[in-house]
Amino acid sequence: MFYAITDVHAREILDSRGNPTVEAVVTINHTYEGRAAVPSGASTGKFEAVELRDQELRYMGLGTKKAVNNVNTKIRDVLLGTEAINQKLIDKLLVDTDGTDNKGNLGANATLSVSMAAARAAANALDIPLYRYLGGVKTNRLPVPMMNILNGGRHATNTVDFQEFMIMPVKATSFAEGLRICAEIYHNLKKLCHERGLSTGIGDEGGFAPDLPDAFAVLDLIVEAIKAAGYAPDTEIKIALDVAASELYNEEDGKYHFQGETELRDKKRREASICDTGCDCEEEKQITRNTEEMIAYYEELIERYPIISIEDGLAEDDWNGWKELTKRLGDKIQLVGDDLFVTNTKRLDAGIKLKVANAILVKVNQIGTVSEAMEAVEMAQHNGYKAVISHRSGETEDTFIADLAVATNAGQIKTGAPCRSDRVAKYNQLLRIEEELGKVSCYMDPFHKL
Ligand code: PGA
Ligand code: ZN
Repeated sequence: MFYAITDVHAREILDSRGNPTVEAVVTINHTYEGRAAVPSGASTGKFEAVELRDQELRYMGLGTKKAVNNVNTKIRDVLLGTEAINQKLIDKLLVDTDGTDNKGNLGANATLSVSMAAARAAANALDIPLYRYLGGVKTNRLPVPMMNILNGGRHATNTVDFQEFMIMPVKATSFAEGLRICAEIYHNLKKLCHERGLSTGIGDEGGFAPDLPDAFAVLDLIVEAIKAAGYAPDTEIKIALDVAASELYNEEDGKYHFQGETELRDKKRREASICDTGCDCEEEKQITRNTEEMIAYYEELIERYPIISIEDGLAEDDWNGWKELTKRLGDKIQLVGDDLFVTNTKRLDAGIKLKVANAILVKVNQIGTVSEAMEAVEMAQHNGYKAVISHRSGETEDTFIADLAVATNAGQIKTGAPCRSDRVAKYNQLLRIEEELGKVSCYMDPFHKL
């Protein structure tokens, strides 16, 4: 039977931050439909594929009418009649029609919406689950959540400079159990924040966003929450960080600036009236760290806390720093390249050759097609690097990445807190997949060899 694409249609919808994004529907043989929506980042890497925005008055410039129009005209024209059960071909046509290195022509938001919708339509036409369509017979591994429970950086307006503090239930016996453990810790963290007069408001990815003085204070609080929930830090629960250091990096002085830490220090000094005595602390400089100091900072943190993974510990251009970071920490913990690799096999290949990092964060909209994202996972896995499938800080109800995580046997997923339906939708989809896989499902510690 020939499964032909008989329609492609896009529309503009809203993401979890209230910004517009692209949703596409692909139809096969006038009968089977697949629908998908594109996520959007806030701390975007500068080497990411282009997210096409209208730059017009509506939605403060963020409209996606041009991307939508590209789907409804150019992409539709190219794909009508194409074999739908051939993801590589569909994605190649998208890449070729765009014709640039960074999807600058059609927009990665346009190409990705169709790429994902086509995969889902194909799975529907074949009447098999999406994860099985994408991964075939080898798919049975549920990812360990790398669950973000405390937000900072660009994802919140608090004083925490690191973007994400995450917990990983590595010793759970199933995904469902891991999810429950994380949710229990999350609730205990809320209770602790409340008891201490800290804000229980949340950031973009659903984690709490209180004002805290520095990473030590955050990690102390998280360890306390883990214990309060009745779990053992380190043996049962590991901690992961996403520093998103490109956001802290200042090109002018080549240093990482800790603005939140500085603000809270100054506030405390003002409260203690130190400044009234005529000292010059108001003018004291911003707290900064150079590359060496950042690495030393991480060494101290991993010495004191059960940290198993650090993402974007250094900036996206700091290849020499990354080399040193990997030399010093790469055999102790996972070092994930997000802005560094941007789900791009060229950058990943360069990183592998330079022995930089030991894992890649995979965000489908950083590259713009499902096939290219899967190729990045494959390249990583073939070279002894791990892959972590990830959401964006701006999300939708689309659960594509849950299926992708299982399809690629990635073993880890980063999809926010157990809070807000845009985050929880992915976890709930993984619960369904685990139930469906039944006896053959597998959940295991991704770091058992580290
Ligand atoms: P972003 O953040 O989606 O805002 O880029 C997620 C991350 O940095 O991992
Ligand atoms: Zn990141």
